[in-house]
Amino acid sequence: MGTALVTGATSGLGEEFCWQLAAAHHDLVIVARTQDKLDALAARLREIAGISVEVIAADLGEPAELARVAARASVRRGHGGLAPIGLLVNNAGFGPGQSFLTGDFDRELYGLDVMVRAVMALSHEATLAMVARGRGAILNVSSVAADTGMGTYSAHKAWVRAFTEGLAVELAGTGVTATVVSPGLTRTHFHEAAHLDVSSTPDWVWSSPEQVVSAALEAVRRGQVLVTPTPLYKVASMATRLAPRWVVRSVTQRLPHVV
Ligand SMILES: NC(=O)c1ccc[n+]([C@@H]2O[C@H](COP(=O)([O-])OP(=O)(O)OC[C@H]3O[C@@H](n4cnc5c(N)ncnc54)[C@H](OP(=O)(O)O)[C@@H]3O)[C@@H](O)[C@H]2O)c1
Repeated sequence: MGTALVTGATSGLGEEFCWQLAAAHHDLVIVARTQDKLDALAARLREIAGISVEVIAADLGEPAELARVAARASVRRGHGGLAPIGLLVNNAGFGPGQSFLTGDFDRELYGLDVMVRAVMALSHEATLAMVARGRGAILNVSSVAADTGMGTYSAHKAWVRAFTEGLAVELAGTGVTATVVSPGLTRTHFHEAAHLDVSSTPDWVWSSPEQVVSAALEAVRRGQVLVTPTPLYKVASMATRLAPRWVVRSVTQRLPHVV
């Protein structure tokens, strides 16, 4: 897979993607908003894993900053001495942590930009470069919430899944693959960042970042399109797809707010 570009690299799933990819000797381009955290992570990755790490501090919700990351994703062979991207991991995301009706509408639009627009833009640039080289992989992070009615977050994650499936169809025969991972609740900084109280959710519903990331990377290596890590969320995901939609809406209404 060569060099991997990971968005949302400084915390949770993104950081775990970096460590597992580094352990498999992939060089990295790491992206998030916070320069200090990126620099600290890059230093640890270089020192412990001995890989090369480029840092891009960028807010993917800002068009000019997204364009800088897209330009890096579009690099083809030998351009400016930079390695082309062999694996793009569109991982950055956040829970709005608010009601669509009463919350801040700008925050909803920002969520759309980070979790939909940026995923589309980076996938577009990266796949064009990968198809020209005849190899590469896109890995997009969705959520089991895509099958529920948890506001715009569910809508964005449903878009990510449908988009990735469409991309996989279009990429067939090119040597480039597209995979979408749909994690369930995972112990990261996600809920704290959204100011959500998840203290009442039992331990057994939580996945670890290690479980999610190893299942996702294994799916990429196999060229698998859809992956839902852990047996619990495989069953939950199947149940939400088979159940009548009114049952899913009714159960969703009774659940604690987790996005
Ligand atoms: N945790 C879960 O239960 C769960 C379940 C299903 C799906 N997911 C999905 O998994 C992905 C990773 O989330 P996580 O759980 O690992 O959350 P996390 O621990 O909060 O990490 C989020 C990462 O994204 C970066 N980020 C956030 N907004 C950004 C922006 N506008 N531009 C660039 N980078 C940005 C953050 O760094 P900075 O703040 O420095 O930018 C951080 O590195 C998300 O797409 C999320 O929707 C999570």
